[in-house]
Amino acid sequence: MCTVYDYEYRPSGTRYDTMIYRRCGNSGLKLPVISLGLWQNFGSQGNYANMVRMIHTAFDNGIVHFDLANNYGHPYNGTAETNFGRILNDMKAYRDELCISTKAGYEMWAGIYGDKNGSRKYLTASLDQSLKRLNLDYVDIFYHHCPDPETPVEETALALDNAVKQGKALYIGISNYNSQQTAEILNIFRELRTPFIISQPSYSMLNRWTETDGLQNLAKEEGFGLAVFSPLAQGFLTDRYLHGIPEDSRIGKGNTWMKSQLDDAMLRRLNRLNEIASQRGQKLSQMALSWILSHEAVTTVITGASRPEQILENIGCIQHLDFSPEELQQIEDALK
Ligand SMILES: NC(=O)c1ccc[n+]([C@@H]2O[C@H](COP(=O)([O-])OP(=O)(O)OC[C@H]3O[C@@H](n4cnc5c(N)ncnc54)[C@H](OP(=O)(O)O)[C@@H]3O)[C@@H](O)[C@H]2O)c1
Repeated sequence: MCTVYDYEYRPSGTRYDTMIYRRCGNSGLKLPVISLGLWQNFGSQGNYANMVRMIHTAFDNGIVHFDLANNYGHPYNGTAETNFGRILNDMKAYRDELCISTKAGYEMWAGIYGDKNGSRKYLTASLDQSLKRLNLDYVDIFYHHCPDPETPVEETALALDNAVKQGKALYIGISNYNSQQTAEILNIFRELRTPFIISQPSYSMLNRWTETDGLQNLAKEEGFGLAVFSPLAQGFLTDRYLHGIPEDSRIGKGNTWMKSQLDDAMLRRLNRLNEIASQRGQKLSQMALSWILSHEAVTTVITGASRPEQILENIGCIQHLDFSPEELQQIEDALK
């Protein structure tokens, strides 16, 4: 089992072997194809020792990209950043081996300035708060978390650009923007020469809006990367729910939206996908990740986890990333 001190004595040069790294769009930044997100299980209600083990397991196995947001740790917004900052204190020697992202955009603190928005006022204050919680001088990627129809897009773009100019972020990203919204802000980033390099949409076998909306094509044409979130559909695309609802799963812990989705048709679909994965010699989770990574526009999948074993299993997907046309057709048929 990992402890904080494992790092000081770990042999160097071995931990990158188990990972594949892709360039993020046309930028100079490479990211591991598997990243770890801290939305769930890293807040004040999580188990700190388990968080440490998950971060160490990820890092030891080549996951050098960790994705956060100001509000992660809900209902205690900010606690995921605080916990990660605490874990980082014992990994200080590795800061330059890490890519750390955070975001602002959703409701964060009381009052009109901490509400869901994209104003210069909110983004600037939020990034300062995040840096304090993380105990960092800068983050590698700062995202606007969701589009804000009320704030002029120029204001949001300028606020993000300013974060870079101030040295508080190295690169800029946007999240939950559709292709039209992306094209609009991209024009302003281009004028400002903002290092905008990445978009973070949801995407999985069960959620394919980025294909029909054109975001994947836009990413390829314009040369930005895609960091895909919820690639396992929050756990549906794993063996978690194939034989009932475990008490310690997201649904078991009370996610009513997920529960409403888990009907007979969904179970049949998941079981069929699981059969296809077995034929490929993979777990369902691994096939779901490999399938996303087979899309050219995708740089990385931002996975979540509740235990280190899940992280290790998910990393195993890189052993089999290619699909035959027959397998792709079987998957399409299963998803119908
Ligand atoms: N930009 C945005 O608006 C946005 C929104 C959502 C998420 N995100 C980012 O994306 C990250 C990932 O999101 P997510 O947590 O929904 O991703 P996910 O990878 O689709 O789901 C993670 C959950 O799936 C289950 N799981 C993972 N690996 C497993 C395995 N090998 N076997 C069985 N179960 C497994 C675990 O559920 P159990 O807990 O049940 O074990 C885990 O908590 C977030 O942490 C965040 O960084 C961004």
